[in-house]
Amino acid sequence: MPTEPNDLITGDAEVRAILADPAYLVPPAPPVPVTEHGTMAWLRAHVARFCDGQVHDRRREVTEQELARLNPALLRSAAAELAGTELDRAELDRGELAAAGGEEPFDVMVVARRVPAAVLATALGVAAAARDGAVDAVLASASGYPNPDLAGPGADAGVQFLAAVLGPADAELLATRIGLLEQACDATAALIGNALIRAFTGEEYDQDGAEDAGEIIAGTLASDPPVRRTKRLAPDGGTVTLDLTTCTFGAGRRPCPGADQARALAAGVLDAVLARCELADQQLSYLPSPNLRMPARLLVEFTRRR
Ligand code: HEM
Repeated sequence: MPTEPNDLITGDAEVRAILADPAYLVPPAPPVPVTEHGTMAWLRAHVARFCDGQVHDRRREVTEQELARLNPALLRSAAAELAGTELDRAELDRGELAAAGGEEPFDVMVVARRVPAAVLATALGVAAAARDGAVDAVLASASGYPNPDLAGPGADAGVQFLAAVLGPADAELLATRIGLLEQACDATAALIGNALIRAFTGEEYDQDGAEDAGEIIAGTLASDPPVRRTKRLAPDGGTVTLDLTTCTFGAGRRPCPGADQARALAAGVLDAVLARCELADQQLSYLPSPNLRMPARLLVEFTRRR
């Protein structure tokens, strides 16, 4: 079990006050040489997420402009359609397995992770032929984006691939687009996983699908939030850890600008999964992260109610 940091601030009012206070800065990404391009260090050094002041204001504006191109209603229907296709494939595989005398539930976290990344990549301009490669690249690099110490061996190659398929564009715009995919990846997958557990196990879930996916997601954001912590540098130079369980999209000076898109992508995946799957028998387990509450896997079976 990870140990609790002794600088953890949990009171909602105090957390919100710090997030609104310009004297508390985000831990910055180190700068990279001007000759460096397309690495994880380059990406972190060029996005809004890891800087402050005027540079942040400028990049935040670029971020919001890019997000304004991503219509939530279209993201939801695209996510539902693609999740449906992924489930078709998984169901076919399971059918063949069953015909061969085997039986195996399906880990729907694969859909929770891949579908939002694929839909966002397409909406940001990735060509159809490069889409699956872009999803692999996001998954290979996402762990190193918030914390380079956790970067896997494919992190730099993943960013390099994304830079090739999301460009050409100047460094900040290119990094912003890649950053949107990285920001969305684990947080949205965790939101989907937690919302599916809520829907499958909660009394309020109507088996006929009467409760809208949007309502399930709103309930999940309040009662089982996916993003749990962030950090700030205090004016005295120390680092504080902020508990975000009462404001999982952040608050104050720089809340998540992708909240509408995240809710829409999650709702689309839920629309597809809840229409035809049920929870398989299993012991639920979560990834060992203090910042993110994400099911390690989530086994479902096909109900054939489609
Ligand atoms: C489409 C999916 C998403 C996109 C495109 C997105 C994008 C972003 C971006 C660009 C930032 C940096 C903003 C800045 O520093 O100015 C950010 C911050 C943040 N995002 Fe998201 N995000 C997504 C999903 C989510 C989800 C599902 C959650 C949690 C429910 C979440 C929680 C946060 C939080 C808490 C921050 C602020 C961190 C801090 O202040 O330290 N995001 N997001």
